[in-house]
Amino acid sequence: MTIPAAKADEKVCILDFGSQYTQLIARSVRELKVYAEIVPYNYSLERIKDENPGAIILSGGPSSIYEKNAPRISAGIFKLGIPVLGICYGLYIITDAFHGKLEASNQKEYGRAVIDIRGKSSLFKGLKSKETVWMSHGDKVTAPPSGFKILASSKNAEVAAIENSKEKIYGVQFHPEVYHTVSGKKVLKNFLFDICGFRGNWSMKSFVAQAIDSVRKEVGNGSVLLGLSGGVDSSVAAVLLKKAVGDRLFPVFVNNGVLRKNEAEIVIKRFKENLDLNIIYVDASERFLRKLKGVENPERKRKIIGREFIKVFLQEARKIGQFDFLAQGTLYPDVIESVSTKGPSDTIKSHHNRVPEVLKLIKSGRVIEPLKELFKDEVRILGKELGMPDEIIYRHPFPGPGLAIRIIGDVTKERIGILQNADDILVGEIKKAGLYDRLWQIFAVFLPVKSVGVMGDKRTYENVIAIRGVTSVDAMTADWAYLPEGLLRTISNRIINEVKGVNRVVYDISSKPPSTIEWE
Ligand code: XMP
Repeated sequence: MTIPAAKADEKVCILDFGSQYTQLIARSVRELKVYAEIVPYNYSLERIKDENPGAIILSGGPSSIYEKNAPRISAGIFKLGIPVLGICYGLYIITDAFHGKLEASNQKEYGRAVIDIRGKSSLFKGLKSKETVWMSHGDKVTAPPSGFKILASSKNAEVAAIENSKEKIYGVQFHPEVYHTVSGKKVLKNFLFDICGFRGNWSMKSFVAQAIDSVRKEVGNGSVLLGLSGGVDSSVAAVLLKKAVGDRLFPVFVNNGVLRKNEAEIVIKRFKENLDLNIIYVDASERFLRKLKGVENPERKRKIIGREFIKVFLQEARKIGQFDFLAQGTLYPDVIESVSTKGPSDTIKSHHNRVPEVLKLIKSGRVIEPLKELFKDEVRILGKELGMPDEIIYRHPFPGPGLAIRIIGDVTKERIGILQNADDILVGEIKKAGLYDRLWQIFAVFLPVKSVGVMGDKRTYENVIAIRGVTSVDAMTADWAYLPEGLLRTISNRIINEVKGVNRVVYDISSKPPSTIEWE
């Protein structure tokens, strides 16, 4: 399912060439209150015409335009009379289509760079003569096509931006959608409002109404089985789906044995009392733990849990009777780090929502993921729009594979118990200090490293708990969070004194990238 537009002419089509940043383009456009939809780069001309977009954005991508099978598009796209903005790889596509000159450069430019802006243009209206931008490229344009003007240059890219104002075709080497491009939002705003003439009247409210409509159309009279984890994503998906299909929604909550302390009880109570959702509860913890026994490899853990989930689901489904669709609260970052849905990007972690059984159902059109194009903060806005309580909306994210990927090495009952207790103390103290809502996530990680300690004059030889606290806006990048010394002291003392099996607590000071938020 894709996010519905407010109006056909208020829509941007983003052709995805596989950049990790493609969704950031969609998100930035939505933040400017214009509806954006990502489509594959090889979407046919006919389908683009049917979509009737008011603008086309060509995303970046990991390929070199010189590769044999480099993604390309029909030149007809530039003849539709629709304004086009090409970003990075998109700039090469434009340059190539209009016969400019490109060069494969052995000097890659990655990270912050400064561009010098030349002359005046609608695209760069309001920008300073020098601007800090985010670059990420290998190839470069050495001469713009005829009819195009150079708008900016950087040290490594003489042609850092081009325009053909008559045809309304623009290309930039840098990434305006990335936070580090200081005036990136302004560039997009100029493109959308001044060049394309959008008004900016799309909002989450229109999302709710039309997403419900779209689910109803897709589901018809069918029934929907939803995997509910109690986290923000699946909870918001549950409320949205309940509005769309009512009692034909069957939310199934599976206890996989690697949940947070008392999680199952809390979730069931909360959903019954606050959200009028009758959850089908399945305690499959023993089954999961048996499968995880002796497994240390993170990818294997993820895959085992993902597959077991779907098996449990399907068994439950058989008990309920026939079900027509499987619904998941999958968000965009979950998908992009696992496999690109639409473009040619790289795999980082296998997401539990993308195991082969689910992929098979996706192929046969039986999976509904109404939040698939959204980021977490957008889902929270949606949750608010749906009238959900803050305690659900503002919960920190919790990964599908749960504590299994926060226990490094073998997952045992004893280790789960230790980690649950340590995590409970940690989160409790953070809430008490009023810092919970300021952090993207904070959690404990069990390290199977034994070290020596001394307690009550006795030598101890126990495990280590690592604390991972990060700030982030979308989980695509994250900084380790600074916590006050006194609070760290309290947390460490309490964990070591109250949790049997732990005699050392350490604090993780790695940012993402190059680390990831979860340890596995
Ligand atoms: P990483 O570790 O990739 O995590 O930096 C980014 C965000 O995604 C969450 N995460 C997951 N969420 N299923 C989920 O539902 C998963 O398999 C999964 N793996 C990571 C993670 O907690 C962080 O917020």
